[in-house]
Amino acid sequence: MNYKKRTHTCGNLDTFSIGQNVTLNGWVAKKRDLGGLYFIDLRDRYGITQLKITPEYEELHALVSKIGNEFVISCSGIVLKRENPNKNLKTGEIEVHVFEMQVLNESSVTPFVIEEDVKANEDLRLQYRYLDLRRRKVYENLILRNKVYQIVHSYFSDFNFIEVETPILMKSTPEGARDYLVPSRVHKGKFYALPQSPQTYKQLLMVSGFDRYVQICKCFRDEDLRADRQPEFTQIDIEMSFVDQEDIFKISQGLFRKIWSDTINYNLPDEFPQMTYDTALSKYGIDKPDMRIKDLMVINDITEGFVNSEFTVFKNIVNSNGIIACIKINMNDGPGKIEITRKISDSYTDFVKKLGFAGLAFLKMNENNEIQSSILKFLSNDEIDFFRSNMNLKQGDFVFIVSGRKNLVLNALGQLRLKIAEDFNLLDNNKHEFIWITDFPLFNYDEDSNKYAGEHHVFTSPKNDFMKYLDSKDREEILSIRANCYDLVYNGNEIGSGSIRIHNSEIQKKVFNIIGLTDEEANEKFGFILEAFKYGAPPHGGVAFGFDRIIAMLCGTKSIRDVIAFPKTVSASSLMDNAPNIVSEEQLDDLGISLK
Ligand code: AMO
Repeated sequence: MNYKKRTHTCGNLDTFSIGQNVTLNGWVAKKRDLGGLYFIDLRDRYGITQLKITPEYEELHALVSKIGNEFVISCSGIVLKRENPNKNLKTGEIEVHVFEMQVLNESSVTPFVIEEDVKANEDLRLQYRYLDLRRRKVYENLILRNKVYQIVHSYFSDFNFIEVETPILMKSTPEGARDYLVPSRVHKGKFYALPQSPQTYKQLLMVSGFDRYVQICKCFRDEDLRADRQPEFTQIDIEMSFVDQEDIFKISQGLFRKIWSDTINYNLPDEFPQMTYDTALSKYGIDKPDMRIKDLMVINDITEGFVNSEFTVFKNIVNSNGIIACIKINMNDGPGKIEITRKISDSYTDFVKKLGFAGLAFLKMNENNEIQSSILKFLSNDEIDFFRSNMNLKQGDFVFIVSGRKNLVLNALGQLRLKIAEDFNLLDNNKHEFIWITDFPLFNYDEDSNKYAGEHHVFTSPKNDFMKYLDSKDREEILSIRANCYDLVYNGNEIGSGSIRIHNSEIQKKVFNIIGLTDEEANEKFGFILEAFKYGAPPHGGVAFGFDRIIAMLCGTKSIRDVIAFPKTVSASSLMDNAPNIVSEEQLDDLGISLK
């Protein structure tokens, strides 16, 4: 097809171009007919330029009358100063008075109107994702994503890291989530797995001597999806030899400082604060505390004030080794007055009930410095005094009290704290609070299956002081083992996770044994890594950051779907091409598979 190619993009004409003859190629974003005078907003990747078509060019005028939205056109004309400039547009000072136009392709009426303030629901937009990607906002998200790619590559290259690609078809190894499996045609009945992360490969690269590895890699996990989880997602994956935790923190902090300053022009501190997992849980009830509200509503364990309580609820809790804990908020803590009305307190009661509690107790210090409480009549004077002094109560304080099993109480108050913060706009989006959470437990225990699992993953090393418990059979001792393991948390979101690894095959075997693998099973599943550790494995450690999550944070969106070109829905399907889909009998035969 012969057509006039663009001399400029739709984003770069301005008052300096006035008087020039130009040709633009692009999509018709909007056409307005002002009684014979047409205006078209022509769109391309770079912006929007207004075209003006006047009635004196009759043929052209007739052509424009037939043009619809999303037609692809080439048009030539002269750049003029606009009578009514549009301050919101980069090219808003000018327009192109068109004298020649060619339709390069027509467009059917699109299933939804492509506009910034889009009305269509997400499913429809995902079905026609290529059209949704014409919206400036989604498009800008991907531009930012591209910018961060470049920053990551150049940052690590400056520090002498080597980018190594690792396989996508690998052996299925238990790593936490369920694997996506790929049947082998050549080896019928056998399967590859898609990597949940390149964890084993990056460790093997350390054994090979590549002491600084980085990769922006795809990971695949068959797990329940949420706004911040996709079945395939991207990580910035890092591994280093001859390092300790602080070295990993330092290189990571430098990366985030660079990303934040080069994209949103925000200066992060040289060092991010650190907090142990145990402290995070006891103060904030969660291992990813949102430090934008770090001093607000910290959880207080007040069990000691009620060991001799006559109040049956508290008495039973204390006798069964549970805890009584609370959080406090003052009516002046927020940007506006915090008023816990009856309706709000009822909704908070429902909230903790959904988490398995019988109820939520309240206590309030009113204008006359009197304590009002839903449980006042059950409390002794000593207990009320304990509250008053221990919680340092002052006028306008509200206290929310939950009692029960320790981990459940901390979790409930942690969640309630975040809910209150959201309800009263206490989470300031202009704050950028990073924190390292350290010293995670090495194992967790699943009561249903009666099994231990790696809290992070099975290659994480225990802290030296706990090494002795690797031979223990006592559950409490095993669960008390703390690991050289850390998460990076940003404004309450886990954006990265890593550990200093085990590099000794004997210790690795002990960890495998605790998670229930016999030596034989460990050899069968992980023999290659145990074998590799016999040939001079250096001390090493690493971390992986959720790339999509980082971009979502920078773009200020909650869903990582907004920063992925072709994302899946929460049920892991692609509405655009209908994946996953059935395959032909021949394909199944080739693979030796028959469906149940
Ligand atoms: P982990 O499993 O914690 O660690 O993953 C690291 C980071 O990846 C992001 N992430 C996800 N993002 C989107 N969708 C998902 N389904 C998803 N799952 C995880 C999170 C998370 O913090 N190999 C180890 C890292 C290491 O030890 O070096 C690993 O993958 O931001």
